[in-house]
Amino acid sequence: MSVKTVGVIGAGTMGNGIAQAFAVSGFSVKMSDIGQEQVDRGRKAIEKSLDRLVSKDKLSVADHGAALGRVEGVVGLDGLADCDFIVEAATEREELKLDIFRKLSDLVSAETVLASNTSSISLTRIAAATANPERVIGMHFFNPVPVMKLVEVVRALQTSDAVFEQVESLTRQLGKEPVAVKDSPGFAVNRILVPMINEACFACAEGIAAPEDIDKVMQMGANHPMGPLALADLIGLDTCLEVMKVLHSALGDPKYRPSPLLQQMVDAGYLGRKVGRGFYVYD
Ligand code: 3HC
Repeated sequence: MSVKTVGVIGAGTMGNGIAQAFAVSGFSVKMSDIGQEQVDRGRKAIEKSLDRLVSKDKLSVADHGAALGRVEGVVGLDGLADCDFIVEAATEREELKLDIFRKLSDLVSAETVLASNTSSISLTRIAAATANPERVIGMHFFNPVPVMKLVEVVRALQTSDAVFEQVESLTRQLGKEPVAVKDSPGFAVNRILVPMINEACFACAEGIAAPEDIDKVMQMGANHPMGPLALADLIGLDTCLEVMKVLHSALGDPKYRPSPLLQQMVDAGYLGRKVGRGFYVYD
């Protein structure tokens, strides 16, 4: 099936990045969120990110305008009924995602592929909430989406071969590299990356080094592009906490228990860059 119009659910950090990636690659995009304010904020973020590409001579002014023009903001799910392909990037809560997929299942045609950008929730359970589970799949992007080349393509138990191949091909059309991973908690990247961030939170709480020094040692001693606490701020501390909770409950190993500091930061609303404060303070 040829894809022309892509629906993206969620205009937050990941959603607006995914919408941008499709729009820059020539797809018409409908970016949906629960309110106009969220949609407008998502469009502004896309505009800013495209501005950055123009200022670095990686995108022409004309292509900037064209890409932005391909992104239509919509409030609620009903406006997505005619999409050929939908990627859900809503908040990382299982009940919310199941509810969205149940509604999409009633709304769109039986051929529309329904992908989720979930970072840790079982695709098999998400697929089971729909009438045509063989067209449900995981398409896990990385932050910042315009820069990161990887997409983990996650097969639910029910996903058909045709849908899997279509998503691999779509990923390549976005200029990204698909890697097939099993439907397992945290898939491959978050299974490895988020426990490292969690460990950095433990180290920080134990006063092993100051937060900026924890980041410095991992940048200078392990050649990471950014330190784990700065990365937690980029990902969102709430997302990191949710991933740890899923790993802990699904795998049952105490080594995955969330750091109490991470929990406290989330309780305080210090969610990272998106709210202007996490381990660091942002403008
Ligand atoms: N939009 C467009 N371009 C962007 C961008 C954005 N939002 N953010 C960064 N860039 C571009 C810059 O323009 C720059 O391009 P250039 O190389 O041509 O100059 C390049 O990316 C590097 O950016 P900067 O020079 O501003 O800053 P850095 O060199 O410090 O790189 C970074 C920033 C790309 C974020 C880098 O620090 C990095 O790779 N960090 C690690 C990110 C990571 O690990 N992401 C995975 C998170 S896990 C996840 O998302 C999964 C989820 O489920 C939790």
